[in-house]
Amino acid sequence: MPTTLTVQNLGVTIDRTPLVRDVTFTASAGERIALIGASGSGKSLTAAAIIGASRPPARVHGTITLDTDANTPHQRAVPRFAAAFQDSATALNPLVTVGRQLTQPMLAARTVTAASAREKVHQLLTQLGFDNPATITSRYPGELSGGQRQRAAIALALLCDAPVLVLDEATTALDVVTQQAVVNVVDEHVRDTGRILLFITHDLPVAANLCTRIIVMDHGRVVEDQPRDQLLTAPQHPATISLVEHAMAGVA
Ligand SMILES: Nc1ncnc2c1ncn2[C@@H]1O[C@H](COP(=O)(O)OP(=O)(O)OP(=O)(O)O)[C@@H](O)[C@H]1O
Ligand SMILES: [Mg+2]
Repeated sequence: MPTTLTVQNLGVTIDRTPLVRDVTFTASAGERIALIGASGSGKSLTAAAIIGASRPPARVHGTITLDTDANTPHQRAVPRFAAAFQDSATALNPLVTVGRQLTQPMLAARTVTAASAREKVHQLLTQLGFDNPATITSRYPGELSGGQRQRAAIALALLCDAPVLVLDEATTALDVVTQQAVVNVVDEHVRDTGRILLFITHDLPVAANLCTRIIVMDHGRVVEDQPRDQLLTAPQHPATISLVEHAMAGVA
């Protein structure tokens, strides 16, 4: 059975205030979904709830189901979700070098030798725009710049073999050239692996470049869920119309 992520009537409440309401969608293996919407519309609360990272005082209700074809004990032991966030400071362990953290998922899976795990990490870091990956892997996370740490966190999410990849404004600290390099790597990665991608951003052009389906949130609800081309050419909801108009104005 191919991977399917089903989110049904997902809600997030904080201090009895419903901040996310009735979010329902299904995603299949290989689907690349952008989750967009104004600041405060509930994207991050939704993403955290989906990956099981909600923390008190947030209360989550509804159902999240991930069906995979994991049969072997190793497959079942693989994490179900990999994620990178805007705030990458907490994604990496401050006491372990970047190189050790990035090779760890491959070494834990025992799929490669230590040397080829290091080689793979260096290749990925080069693709993510690092000129000297060996310097980066020898450092501790606190010795990286914000944008370097963000890319290291994305590398970690890509190297975890989870069937769902969630990137929540994970490229926001990056200059446009580096951001494009990262988006290209993510694009190729999800094509190769068939993972479900949930890409959260304010940047509609970037979302449209990378994703084939766009879900729009407004005031805690999903107000539109369309194939990319349809959403861009015939947006229905006022929130979507506004996002598309602003994106067009930025391009013009
Ligand atoms: N811990 C919290 N306590 C109280 N309110 C919260 C908390 N976390 C989020 N909220 C509120 O929930 C709403 C949705 O927040 P969320 O972080 O999901 O928005 P978002 O769409 O990700 O916005 P942005 O684009 O700015 O990241 C906002 O009104 C926010 O103020
Ligand atoms: Mg957010």
